[in-house]
Amino acid sequence: MLVSMENMLNRAFARQYAVGQFNINNLEWTGTVLKVAQQLRSPVILGVSGGTIKHMLGLKCIHDIVVNAMEFLEIDVPVALHLDHGQSYEACEAAIKAGFSSVMFDGSQMPFAENLAITKRLVTYAHRRGVSVEAELGTIAGSEDGIVNSHVIYADPAECQKLVEETGVDCLAAALGSTHGLYKGKAKLGFAEMQHIAQLVKVPLVLHGGTGISDEDMKKAISLGTAKINVNTENMYAWCLSVKEQFEQQGAHDINDPRKVIMKGLQPVAERVEERMRLFGSAGQSL
Ligand code: 13P
Repeated sequence: MLVSMENMLNRAFARQYAVGQFNINNLEWTGTVLKVAQQLRSPVILGVSGGTIKHMLGLKCIHDIVVNAMEFLEIDVPVALHLDHGQSYEACEAAIKAGFSSVMFDGSQMPFAENLAITKRLVTYAHRRGVSVEAELGTIAGSEDGIVNSHVIYADPAECQKLVEETGVDCLAAALGSTHGLYKGKAKLGFAEMQHIAQLVKVPLVLHGGTGISDEDMKKAISLGTAKINVNTENMYAWCLSVKEQFEQQGAHDINDPRKVIMKGLQPVAERVEERMRLFGSAGQSL
């Protein structure tokens, strides 16, 4: 059964570990992440971006794939199915209606008052249905599924406090220097600001743009109140690299089963997801 992020993140926050959000891209990807979570007894968040909604033929199709895969694989660790960067109230509402157990409303590019008003309305709607809500403030630079931001803008601590207090949101993505996509250099996270905001808001913080952040920085973020870390690009890149190598090594004429190509490409993805779950400390937390 799918669960919201509420309990899994509050537990992680209290015990100072983080739950990974791994974005899914297709059926096989979904099965891979679920299997690793089950093997490691780790809670997990399956992230679904706007591009994946189109690619996987809609919210309902994604929901049904996930719940049927969980049943088939006999998954009994906590799994949240989460809309990543929902761009409107309606987009989040549609995900909830399709059975998603968690949504992110990303109003970070809107005026603060509008972001607050929509987040508040959404929290009321979602919590009545047992669904968790993530909000965002500040700007995470980089690009993800066609959403491009060229500059990092740090989240404002006073706005973070007001947003959380007035909306009752479950967790907050406060942008503090991380970037979506492949980094050109080392990410410089604002740890002083992170500590300050964590003390003000008292809800789990979310670190977006997990790709390219060093292990030490991830651990430090977790120690300062980050209880959810989103990782996507490094897995997509690992899959592409692995498939490229398959074709280079075997030659295209020897490859005739797309299922094998997809699954072999997912081996390094499974390894990375496992590494991340161990690093974040979520492995073994589902008792
Ligand atoms: P990366 O693609 O940089 O790992 O970030 C993922 C993310 O933050 C999804 O919301």
